[in-house]
Amino acid sequence: MPLNRLIIKQFRNIEACDIELSTGFNFLIGPNGSGKTSVLEAIYLLGHGRSFKSSLTGRIITNECDELFVHGRFLNSDQFELPIGINKQRDGTTEVKISGQSGQKLAQLAQILPLQLIHTEGFELLTDGPKHRRSFIDWGVFHTEPAFYDAWGRFKRLNKQRNALLKTATSYRELSYWDQEMARLAENINAWRQQYVDELKNHAEQICQAFLPEFDIKVNYYRGWEKSTPYQSILEDNFVRDQALGYTFSGPNKADLKIKVNGTPVEDVLSRGQLKLMVCALRVAQGQHLTQKTGKQCIYLIDDFASELDGQRRKRLADCLKETKAQVFVSSITESQIADMHDNNGKMFHVEHGTIEQG
Ligand SMILES: Nc1ncnc2c1ncn2[C@@H]1O[C@H](COP(=O)(O)OP(=O)(O)OP(=O)(O)O)[C@@H](O)[C@H]1O
Ligand SMILES: [Mg+2]
Repeated sequence: MPLNRLIIKQFRNIEACDIELSTGFNFLIGPNGSGKTSVLEAIYLLGHGRSFKSSLTGRIITNECDELFVHGRFLNSDQFELPIGINKQRDGTTEVKISGQSGQKLAQLAQILPLQLIHTEGFELLTDGPKHRRSFIDWGVFHTEPAFYDAWGRFKRLNKQRNALLKTATSYRELSYWDQEMARLAENINAWRQQYVDELKNHAEQICQAFLPEFDIKVNYYRGWEKSTPYQSILEDNFVRDQALGYTFSGPNKADLKIKVNGTPVEDVLSRGQLKLMVCALRVAQGQHLTQKTGKQCIYLIDDFASELDGQRRKRLADCLKETKAQVFVSSITESQIADMHDNNGKMFHVEHGTIEQG
């Protein structure tokens, strides 16, 4: 669902902003520190309940103000408007409103607003630990498998309890009751992730190949424990090791997406620019897969990224996004940097000292 109106109040240097958006490309143009990233951050907050830059609410509320608001109006497939909003106070209190109803959960916002963020630090998806790639897989599973969110939450809570029990248990028998439930959840979580990656894999490899034709790219899923061994046996067989470590070593909390280029881990082969291109390709592939599978459109937030791609690749990215008819927000310092992404459907916004004007 595209956003057709965005209202921001007291968010970083944006005191007040109310803009009508294009359902296609929206360009945010302005000098350093003008508020371009803040607009993207506000949209991200609407979909995730948190910023992608700071975990501290106090940092994103405008200095000297007590609270912030972000409201969005979406157009659903029947062209009805769906208003959603988030309010955050300095003490961390968060209120979510959907269709005028208060007290809604953040996960509901995330369901309504599937977002893909592409920004300059984004290549940590490929170079940092598996946590980022697990989140990548789980974004897709969350939007395609309704039972995943609860199951994953329950697994993480049980895992925490198990780690505490490991420190005091004198025999495996003290854990076996809890492990049955943990194993059941782990098998489900794994099956959903495996199915998701199986479905995404070919498409993701193709798009990566289109962005980086000089490489042979392979994407594979790792479940977090030995294949073909039931998770229950992993827990039981490794009790002594886990106890010595003080935590459960194997499991869905260790799952990963293994990405290889010409048979070698990506970070050892690709340049920084190529890594960024691959992140772009993976995120576009994931958004396209979501649309094919569920009919849901995802919104792309592209921060300062186009400027780092050469003209040909910038155009390829824009064409890919236009093909999916996705709504896209692109920030850039100058208009010339986004000239090859612009078309008649796009809207241009000029950002200066926290003020956003269409023009
Ligand atoms: N809590 C806050 N209250 C008021 N202003 C803030 C707050 N936090 C950050 N700022 C200011 O708001 C502006 C936000 O800039 P933002 O990151 O959106 O700029 P940008 O247009 O993306 O710039 P760049 O091109 O350098 O990436 C900065 O000038 C920053 O100093
Ligand atoms: Mg910025």
